[in-house]
Amino acid sequence: MKGKPLQVPMRDVIEDEMLSSSVVKDMNALDFDYIPEELPHRDEQLRFLAQMFKPALSCISQNVVIKGPVGTGKTVIAKKFCKSIVNIARKQGKIIEYVHINCRKRSTDAMALLGILNHFDSRFPDRGFSVQEMLEVLRKQLKKRDAQLLVVLDEADALLKKSGSNLIYALTRFSDELSRDKSPVSLLLISQKDVLSMLDSSALSTFKRSNIVHLNKYTRDELFDIVRQRVDLAFHRNTVNEECVDLIADIASEWGDARFSIELLWKAGIAADHQHVQMVVPEHVRAAKAETYSIVTESKLRNLERHQLLTLHAIAKRLKKDGTAYVNTGDAEKTYAITCEEYNEKPRTHTMFWNYLKDIEGSGFINIKPSGKGHLGTTQLISLPDIPAEIVSDKVEELLR
Ligand SMILES: Nc1ncnc2c1ncn2[C@@H]1O[C@H](COP(=O)(O)OP(=O)(O)OP(=O)(O)O)[C@@H](O)[C@H]1O
Ligand SMILES: [Mg+2]
Repeated sequence: MKGKPLQVPMRDVIEDEMLSSSVVKDMNALDFDYIPEELPHRDEQLRFLAQMFKPALSCISQNVVIKGPVGTGKTVIAKKFCKSIVNIARKQGKIIEYVHINCRKRSTDAMALLGILNHFDSRFPDRGFSVQEMLEVLRKQLKKRDAQLLVVLDEADALLKKSGSNLIYALTRFSDELSRDKSPVSLLLISQKDVLSMLDSSALSTFKRSNIVHLNKYTRDELFDIVRQRVDLAFHRNTVNEECVDLIADIASEWGDARFSIELLWKAGIAADHQHVQMVVPEHVRAAKAETYSIVTESKLRNLERHQLLTLHAIAKRLKKDGTAYVNTGDAEKTYAITCEEYNEKPRTHTMFWNYLKDIEGSGFINIKPSGKGHLGTTQLISLPDIPAEIVSDKVEELLR
């Protein structure tokens, strides 16, 4: 009697994948919130911060601004510096409380203040207190602890845009009027934009023009060192081919953005793992680049104003619909007007529309060139050189909502 062939148990693909080895030894070190012990090429700026905040150790409050383009280390140097100053103060028997507020997430005075109060009392109710009352609670908290407060308002332009400079003003004039103490609050404002120009004159008067840390885009060689450091922190020995670090530095140097370079490294590592190979090679980096540029797009899009987004949306929609390489400016403007209606916005003037075109061209999203024959006067042709129209319109739509 012929028996049935033995059923070989099917390998569990899930278990197989989950337990397969990885080139990464510490995924944590590739996280954007991770703070490395050393920050290559930012010593000078950390030293500058230390010089400016030195008086804070003697309870003299300071107000400082960090400014620089995307991914230049503004947030990470602020976190590193603030953690250090808290420890240094503690060794001297003083208390500095450090609170880091992301103003993109907390863009009103009340939300930002609530973030500060939650540092002292995580159960502080998120409703029922006015800004004035919350400031009073904060004053009491600081007095009770005999503490100084160092507030970082990260992406401060979002707060200023939405709520103006009232909170910043209140925090810089926080001294107890009765006892005429020095203000116990120091501020560190972080932004890609020129936030001082967004402050009203009374708030501005407490900021010195010299108290600005300027961060420049990283050069190719600086990015090389940053990526090299992450390879050592995050990957097993000899799993990342040296050329990969070169290639990542080359690619990311176009933006000078450390976040982008770390992202490429991380994605390249994942690509190697997916292929179950023990070595990250340049082909993985190229694959990572193809995948990552949509993320870069997103962070650049976040910097556009609403009508710039509407303009870009109109162009992308039109190109997608027509399936053409170019859309002329007249058609783009018509589609812009329709798009505005869809989003309950009043279309801006013709001149403003041209300004938006110039702005988004400046951000690198579109190219504008003179049209050939057969078009009237100022008509020009717009194209999206790098990014598929579909990706642009999806992402812009998300932001517009
Ligand atoms: N000098 C450096 N050494 C090591 N890692 C760095 C350095 N500079 C930045 N990074 C890393 O690059 C990433 C981006 O840095 P960070 O978040 O500080 O940028 P940012 O200037 O705040 O950007 P954004 O304007 O988008 O907020 C983070 O993962 C950070 O740890
Ligand atoms: Mg940041």
